[in-house]
Amino acid sequence: MTTIIDGKAVAAVLREKVASVVAQIGAQQGVQPALAVVLVGEDPASQIYVRNKHAATEKSGMRSIAHKLPAETSEDEVVALVRKLNEDEAVDGILVQLPLPDHISPDRVINEIHPDKDVDGLTEANAGRLMLGKDGLVPCTPQGSVILVKTVTEKLSGLHAVVVGRSILVGKPLSMLLLAENCTVTMAHSRTKDLASVCREADILCAAVGVPRLVKGDWVKKGAIVIDVGINRIEENGKKRLVGDVDFDAAKENAGAITPAPGGVGPMTIACLLRNTALAAARRRGVAVTV
Ligand code: GUN
Repeated sequence: MTTIIDGKAVAAVLREKVASVVAQIGAQQGVQPALAVVLVGEDPASQIYVRNKHAATEKSGMRSIAHKLPAETSEDEVVALVRKLNEDEAVDGILVQLPLPDHISPDRVINEIHPDKDVDGLTEANAGRLMLGKDGLVPCTPQGSVILVKTVTEKLSGLHAVVVGRSILVGKPLSMLLLAENCTVTMAHSRTKDLASVCREADILCAAVGVPRLVKGDWVKKGAIVIDVGINRIEENGKKRLVGDVDFDAAKENAGAITPAPGGVGPMTIACLLRNTALAAARRRGVAVTV
């Protein structure tokens, strides 16, 4: 029997835990943790993401502060806002929604965020901490992926994890997190020779490449845990639909456990953002918590 990993259900449990941490911080410190979200321009997808983050933040008991700036805002003005939020005692987490308009360097803006408020885990400081095995804030999608793996196996130590994709947002940090769990990690990518054979070696197979159904059913070892990070819009038989980077129907025949896409890793991303915000608030305010 293959376990279909229900990301929505796992995310709901995590959000409950976050809400209780938020309540604990409120009881001990008399403050309501706050997440500031900066959105520049009118990108329709970004507007939806920001709306969803706002609703989820408020539902967890935290304050959500939106800064919506016009597309023509200068890079210096965005940097000035980030610096102001760094200094603001009431703000625990800062998220600058990507992509930014073309005239603004995401690199410069992201790295202006104070690492202790960087709830996306995207600053060079937090990437460095992850690499060095030090405490920091970890990118949300990779963190969510590891939490999902842990719902089906407690002991990751010694397992061979193959991560397909080496992006800054997912592949690289996910590889570091799996290494920290004592997995033997292979980082595969578009130039990997005989990707199918590499994938067949995986006890944990993670796909984060943005290619619809790249990972075929016979690339999955019998009993492997398959984490599909991809969400791709395709048109099939005249209908628009979302599919992952894994050919789910075929892969589930071999997998021991597999995430659907959508409904797997996706819901974990916002839940981990809330977790990071609550953790950032607890650390900064000296409250001992576990989430
Ligand atoms: N745009 C799409 N995904 C993300 C994300 O995880 N963080 C930020 N800041 N922007 C995004």
